[in-house]
Amino acid sequence: MNIRQETEGDFGEVYALIKTAFETAAISDGDEQEYYARIRRSDTCIPELSLVAEQDGRIIGHIMLARTLVRSKTGEHEFLVLAILSVAEERRRSGVGSALARAALDRATRLGHRAVFLAGDHRYYGRFGFVPASEYSIRYKEDVPREMLDNIMALELTPGSLDGIKGVVDL
Ligand SMILES: CC(C)(COP(=O)(O)OP(=O)(O)OC[C@H]1O[C@@H](n2cnc3c(N)ncnc32)[C@H](O)[C@@H]1OP(=O)(O)O)[C@@H](O)C(=O)NCCC(=O)NCCS
Repeated sequence: MNIRQETEGDFGEVYALIKTAFETAAISDGDEQEYYARIRRSDTCIPELSLVAEQDGRIIGHIMLARTLVRSKTGEHEFLVLAILSVAEERRRSGVGSALARAALDRATRLGHRAVFLAGDHRYYGRFGFVPASEYSIRYKEDVPREMLDNIMALELTPGSLDGIKGVVDL
């Protein structure tokens, strides 16, 4: 398996992968592929942080980190959101998702980004060091049911980067 930066030509294959992957996801609004397409067209997109996992010329996984903001009383702070992670159903549970997550987080750290947020299953993302964002006094911009609160997560890439920031994140 090879992990590389997504290119223009990958768009259709990645779009189809996301659409199919989320048909079997525990939580899905059925619109994840459009969310991906919107980010790709917007200035929140960071091409270096949109990666594909490829095997035998076929894309079997994809991850996208993008820009997001935490708004606090002292201003706006730019961080990242792990916007989307998908692995082809028949290739799951063999480390593809983890390899993509680790590669993207490594790249983000090397590019100097300070923290990453996400809305996702805390039982999965805990393995990469994500913790509930509430541990940092940061909450999602919309109300979240109590049982879903731990799924709004944060990871400091630079230790201490979220210290003292009390605010609302847009995901
Ligand atoms: C979530 C997903 C990306 C994981 O990809 P993967 O390549 O199977 O992940 P890995 O092989 O690195 O890890 C698999 C492990 O994660 C666990 N796991 C996968 N999804 C999980 C979830 N939603 N909650 C808890 N654990 C989960 C598996 O049970 C497995 O556990 P094990 O290592 O103890 O066997 C993949 O299942 C997927 O594309 N799902 C559909 C889209 C989706 O839900 N994306 C994430 C949104 S939060």
